[in-house]
Amino acid sequence: MLRGRIDDRFSTVHLGGLNLDPREARTIRRIKILGCGTSYHAGLIGAGLIESMARIPADAEPASEFRYRNPVVDPDTLYIAVSQSGETYDVLAAVQELKRKGARVLGVVNVVGSAIAREADGGVYVHAGPEVCVVSTKCFTNTVTAFALLALHLGRIRDLSVTDGKRIIEGLRKLPAQIEEILKTEDQIKEIAAEYAGAQSMMFIGRVRGYPVALEASLKLKEISYIHAEAYPASELKHGPLALIEPALPTVAIVPDDDLLEKNRAALEEIKARSGRILAVAHQPQPKADHTIVVPKNEDELDPILMGIPLQLLAYHTALAMGRDIDKPRNLAKSVTVE
Ligand code: G6P
Repeated sequence: MLRGRIDDRFSTVHLGGLNLDPREARTIRRIKILGCGTSYHAGLIGAGLIESMARIPADAEPASEFRYRNPVVDPDTLYIAVSQSGETYDVLAAVQELKRKGARVLGVVNVVGSAIAREADGGVYVHAGPEVCVVSTKCFTNTVTAFALLALHLGRIRDLSVTDGKRIIEGLRKLPAQIEEILKTEDQIKEIAAEYAGAQSMMFIGRVRGYPVALEASLKLKEISYIHAEAYPASELKHGPLALIEPALPTVAIVPDDDLLEKNRAALEEIKARSGRILAVAHQPQPKADHTIVVPKNEDELDPILMGIPLQLLAYHTALAMGRDIDKPRNLAKSVTVE
């Protein structure tokens, strides 16, 4: 993923297949990211990375919705289609509709030479290797990293400083060793999973960068354990879902050490006050949580890449403890190539 792409001299990255010269990159006024399932969630994190590093307004939308709402296609918007397989029909159809209307579409795709990669005007290959399991795990992590590279690239063409570029590159370089560290917590995660395996339902919360991590963690859990799971922005708890909190509904909270730490801690207090059980994924043990999975700190922007990983393991071990067929979850296909 990083190999051969980092350019230390200019504190940026080279993305050979982008087909977007710097002059064109400067004219982009908005970025719209489209994907389905896990790829949509990776796109949500990607939109946040692009906004924070390149200061281009960006958002993500399920491709399956986008293609049916007769979207306004704007010539100054860059569209990015995200897909592991590169064959998901809803994404492909959205790309074809956009191209028909004259839009520029890039792909962030894992499978080289796949239909979406071929239709796109250019893009970034995720290079996660073949992903065999139905539910996406390593591809999610690598897709988010690919978005970090794209955001850095666009940022350095626009207003991201050399200092910030260097800071992000150093962060990217730390990722592999930090992922190794997270994998060492697997036994602790397994024990926690055994406790939650009997739950009827689980709540996942996060704020801003943490919210798409919560969405993806909740999807992983429901896909392979069949436990009902909801994801909410932590800030929205008080606008409804707090009514659900009771000892039988555990909450998984994404609590990074960033400028929203105190806000996140306040949400944990609200949950504890209603006798809710809490599992925090954080950079330091959280006093209000019953368990904390501590992950290594990276740069604020890159933390979501790491925080998703223990929650993939949580879904895996919860499903295993419940005797589910993890490799063949019911009702799901690896690649949905039909309507
Ligand atoms: C299917 C899979 C999901 C996946 C989604 C998008 O629904 O079960 O795990 O996230 O398709 O797949 P893609 O290959 O486009 O990333």
